[in-house]
Amino acid sequence: MTDVLRVGIVGAGGYTGSELLRLCQGHPRLSVEFVAARDNAGKALGDVLPSVLGVPELAGRLLERFEPEQARNLAGRIDVAFTALPHAASAKVAAALWQQGIQVIDLSADYRLRDAEVYERTYGPHPHPELLETAVYGLVELHRDALRGARLIAAPGCYPTSAILPLAPLLANQLVELEGIIIDAKSGVSGAGRKPLPSTHFSECSEGLRPYKVAGAHRHTPEIEQELGRLAGAPLQVVFTPNLCPMTRGILAVAYARAKPSTTLAQCVEAARQMFGSTLVHVLEEALPDTLWVRGSACAHVAYRIDERTRTVLAMCTLDNLAKGASSQALQALNAARGWDDALGLPRIAMFP
Ligand SMILES: NC(=O)c1ccc[n+]([C@@H]2O[C@H](COP(=O)([O-])OP(=O)(O)OC[C@H]3O[C@@H](n4cnc5c(N)ncnc54)[C@H](OP(=O)(O)O)[C@@H]3O)[C@@H](O)[C@H]2O)c1
Repeated sequence: MTDVLRVGIVGAGGYTGSELLRLCQGHPRLSVEFVAARDNAGKALGDVLPSVLGVPELAGRLLERFEPEQARNLAGRIDVAFTALPHAASAKVAAALWQQGIQVIDLSADYRLRDAEVYERTYGPHPHPELLETAVYGLVELHRDALRGARLIAAPGCYPTSAILPLAPLLANQLVELEGIIIDAKSGVSGAGRKPLPSTHFSECSEGLRPYKVAGAHRHTPEIEQELGRLAGAPLQVVFTPNLCPMTRGILAVAYARAKPSTTLAQCVEAARQMFGSTLVHVLEEALPDTLWVRGSACAHVAYRIDERTRTVLAMCTLDNLAKGASSQALQALNAARGWDDALGLPRIAMFP
């Protein structure tokens, strides 16, 4: 391993790609050497991402322009690539880079599902189903051992991370019933990516709050069920309701699960403390989580309560969809794959307020 890894970011003009660019700049063992775009190929970085203006190594000299995303002959230029493209497009670029011997961390959904049939039902035909077995799901808190040395990593989805993290300790320790789990999650608008859509137009979402793709229709449902079922040791189904919330960054997920007869709040908190230890997931005890406390940080906050009248466990989580829900999580997975500290180079204090 070289001291400093040379990094490529494909899709660097998008929201998760530009967040990667920002986070890589603060990482002591990474140097971004290649940034690629599709429609923006050939354009100056600062014209597409005004956030890099004034950073000479990004906007002035080395990385002056976006290159085309066709990934050919990059093996001599980069050691690691992040692919931050829409699904299916990402799978193709990631596979081409992986075949060149480059370590790849894909931020799309393309390599997250283990079962090719489930992928096809959810997203359509997979361009490289043969690689699904090779890819490692990049949720470090749950897959640390498998990530060590992994060359193809699937960074988890933002909603799935917010749902899986708070429920994982409960299911792994049989503290809740498997049937009847409900997850209600609210996401900031940057979760929809940079391309403008009528539904994410400022005047049509800035003061409203609405559910969408309800009753099993959201594509993240199988990913949540895959990981929770693995932890529970049995297949399970969840009701997952996503909501579009008028904020730029952040996800708040509240999961409801029926407590086992002897389950106490102290057991839930202790199970989470044991599972997350010194990782980037913090277990709150007194406070209830707030998206503002994790904005721009690589951390997630989880908290628990039990409604004793109905014996329902409330498992809550906040995270930044572009950080722990995407780009810092991808870097955390790279850190784990390389045997570095989880938090190396990552911000642990949120922008506040
Ligand atoms: N946003 C989030 O909170 C979030 C969280 C977790 C995971 N993800 C996943 O991460 C990936 C990137 O998401 P994002 O939010 O960064 O998206 P985005 O802002 O829309 O950026 C996507 C980038 O991909 C490039 N691109 C390349 N091939 C493309 C194609 N065939 N069609 C459209 N764009 C193409 C575009 O470059 P040009 O502009 O140059 O064409 C664009 O900059 C997606 O798979 C998404 O599901 C997103």
